[in-house]
Amino acid sequence: MEQHHTIHAIRQSVGKARSNGSTVGVVPTMGNLHEGHLSLIDRALSMTDFVVCTLFVNPMQFGAGEDLDNYPRTLDQDRERLQQHGCHCLFAPPASEVYPEGLQSHTTVTVPALSERHCGAGRPGHFDGVATVVTKLFNIVQPDVAIFGQKDYQQLQVIRKLTRDLCLPVTISSAPTLREPNGLAMSSRNGYLSQEQKDRAAVLYRSLQQSATRIGEESAVDFPAIESTAMEQIREAGLEPEYVAVCDATTLQPATAESRELVILTAARIGSTRLIDNITLVR
Ligand code: PAF
Repeated sequence: MEQHHTIHAIRQSVGKARSNGSTVGVVPTMGNLHEGHLSLIDRALSMTDFVVCTLFVNPMQFGAGEDLDNYPRTLDQDRERLQQHGCHCLFAPPASEVYPEGLQSHTTVTVPALSERHCGAGRPGHFDGVATVVTKLFNIVQPDVAIFGQKDYQQLQVIRKLTRDLCLPVTISSAPTLREPNGLAMSSRNGYLSQEQKDRAAVLYRSLQQSATRIGEESAVDFPAIESTAMEQIREAGLEPEYVAVCDATTLQPATAESRELVILTAARIGSTRLIDNITLVR
């Protein structure tokens, strides 16, 4: 597996693959790879000939007081996993390569409206940071296809919209959330949790499943009541829910009686760790 740390080197490598007739897939990550990430690599490998996994803990998407400094950085382990998995190329630039003039005066990409609600309300600027770095990674790697996890559902919609709005020549593909046996969505941040916290955090998916079942069963659905019940259930398990929101699956606006494709999004804290999850359903 190739390994590159500069924009010049990754461009040369991708250019070479392209000149051999290969299609290019990218899986953007912040590293600390788990089975969920590897399933994205599998998807990229099934869709394209030359797969690049980017590992970059993007400072622009972390707010003050968030876990940027403590975010797990496990490059050697990630390299090993990618190699064993058949990934062709790893791109792990230092922050000075991605933001050589720093963050202060850097151009930002903003996807209005979609970025402002749900996780965006609790993490102002977060999706600007994601949209900016993803646009940069697309410009650096110039992939045909980019794969993102459905676990970060709002992020996926933000990226789909920026790709459409900016006419970026990249196909966005997504892969389903992988879960622990108790239903907890796989996430690098699960590494911050004790076993007892992981057990309690299973309430997130349980409450989403129960909410989805209720929406499927009831003809006149009271969405705010469903959100409140789920919030209460999460609170009772000892987590601090930030929100539960039943939304239109594309716009992420509150669901109405006419909405057919829905997503239920949630974010909650357990101790100092913030977890997110979601479930989609069609009525
Ligand atoms: O989902 C992530 O790991 C990050 O938000 C991403 C898409 C790699 C951008 O930094």
